[in-house]
Amino acid sequence: MRHLLSCADLDESEVLSLLDLAVEMQQVQSRPVKKLPALRGRTIVNIFFEDSTRTRTSFEIAGKWLSADTINVSAKGSSVSKGESLRDTMLTLDAMGADAFVIRHSSSGAASQVAGWVRAHVINAGDGQHEHPTQALLDAYTMRQHFARVANGTSKGPGTGFAGKRIAIVGDLLHSRVVRSNVLLQRILGGDVVLVAPPTLLPTGVEDWGCEVTDDLDAVLPSADIVMMLRVQRERMAGGFFPTEREYTESFGLTPGRLAGLKPTAAICHPGPMNRGVEISPAAADAANSLVLDQVSAGVAVRMSVLYHLLAAEEGAQG
Ligand code: CP
Repeated sequence: MRHLLSCADLDESEVLSLLDLAVEMQQVQSRPVKKLPALRGRTIVNIFFEDSTRTRTSFEIAGKWLSADTINVSAKGSSVSKGESLRDTMLTLDAMGADAFVIRHSSSGAASQVAGWVRAHVINAGDGQHEHPTQALLDAYTMRQHFARVANGTSKGPGTGFAGKRIAIVGDLLHSRVVRSNVLLQRILGGDVVLVAPPTLLPTGVEDWGCEVTDDLDAVLPSADIVMMLRVQRERMAGGFFPTEREYTESFGLTPGRLAGLKPTAAICHPGPMNRGVEISPAAADAANSLVLDQVSAGVAVRMSVLYHLLAAEEGAQG
């Protein structure tokens, strides 16, 4: 694996290898000294042209826990604000000797373009409305742990896999890179994805994604093993996608009433940031079966695994 740009680039053995190594990486999180020597001497540049809390911080932590030198560059404080192009910016940072770039950009395809310009490894940390592959990997990791807990009473036992598991992804699918990466990843892992959204928030061509598509959330919830709520991306909307937020919540929000109708073994996911009271009620966000903070923890472990696969594995180094 040279870059991680899209879940479509992964095969089943690569996905399972990434998820299995993340299990070992997560053990570092509970140690008093959170440090492995695997990436000593390697330099990782996180370059974010869009805001982020979870992805940027977890990549930085992941790099540090693997002993890499991690540098954060944001568009606001860089020469991008003086008009420097993306290509010149990336070639400049590449010339300084970066080993890997973790890039978030508002343009779909930006990470792929960068991979064509630079010598370093490139990880797509979200490109416009296209993909967010490490989010889908951490979602899969979190779901796998949940399924194992349901089956074995502990997440430490063997996982049960995704076959026969129904994963409802609900909300603003039109603007979501998370849904695209999750659908691609579940094609590999075998989960049964059902997409729920108002017709105005469905992406063009969604009928070719190989998933059931509906606008009837109440019909889907009783059979869902995972309910993944997606954020209403107000910043990408000019308006007119639904009448009011209150009406959106009535039809597509995970309200306390809907929470009560879930299967006893079902769990709730949300990639964050959440609009509490819009797509997800506080009762659902903070419920005992909410995996929202498990997803955040998994983000560090999965990103450690991705960095290890790209940087350490190429040298046959041991963590
Ligand atoms: N889920 C996610 O990508 O969150 P951030 O925008 O905070 O990184």
